[in-house]
Amino acid sequence: MQPLLGTVWLGRSWRHLSSCGSTNDEAAAWALAGAPHGAVVVADHQERGRGRQGRVWHSESADSLYFSTVLRPPLVPMQVPPLTLCAGVAVAEALARFEVTPSLKWPNDLLIDGKKIAGILTEMSAADPRGRVDHVILGIGVNLNTEAWPPELGELATSLRQARGGRSVDRAIFAATLCERLEHWYDRFISDGPSAVSQGWRRFAAFFGRRVRAGALEGVAESLDDDGALVLRLDDGQARRITSGEVRL
Ligand code: BTN
Repeated sequence: MQPLLGTVWLGRSWRHLSSCGSTNDEAAAWALAGAPHGAVVVADHQERGRGRQGRVWHSESADSLYFSTVLRPPLVPMQVPPLTLCAGVAVAEALARFEVTPSLKWPNDLLIDGKKIAGILTEMSAADPRGRVDHVILGIGVNLNTEAWPPELGELATSLRQARGGRSVDRAIFAATLCERLEHWYDRFISDGPSAVSQGWRRFAAFFGRRVRAGALEGVAESLDDDGALVLRLDDGQARRITSGEVRL
């Protein structure tokens, strides 16, 4: 892997597992044992791949990417949410390098033709809510060469190979591309702040101007605040910031 990496710090410590429960758990355990900033864990299979909101992440295919990285940002917990946006833009740009046009659905679903191709699970460890975080685990799942989906996912999920008309993708090259884009956006966030990241994110947002539901609220998705909150314009004209949960189109 190392010869493919064009990064300075991301992925310079790398663990490749043939199987594990969840790469996020492996990365968290490694972080507690002293993993450096930018350490990466990838696995061929996950037995308990996790998605957001307690969902399962389909992790059977060794043709896909199950990736987690340990980040040690100089931030307090309330400054961390835009890191997830960094990951969203980085995955979108990495996919675009493979000749597809992804879109981002808030907060961080990567879609192609309305089907999910990648997802991001961010988990943070902080002993003191006002003190600097100990570490953040960014977990990224990308469907690369999968073509056989369980029946319940067939209408919901797609892969890079399917989006490229059957042309497969080299997982190591994709992972190296992702590391390079993620390092870029992390460094931008730390040096220039969250507005730079939000601008990058908006380039891939395909649902502004559309009617969406967020929990009990319904309205038009208007914009993304710099801290990563979605601004929803309700029918009575009020703007509401949505900071957690998901939206349905
Ligand atoms: C989602 O869209 O719900 C987020 C999915 C995140 C899946 C990745 S795969 C690598 C890492 N390990 C996990 O258990 N989950 C994340």
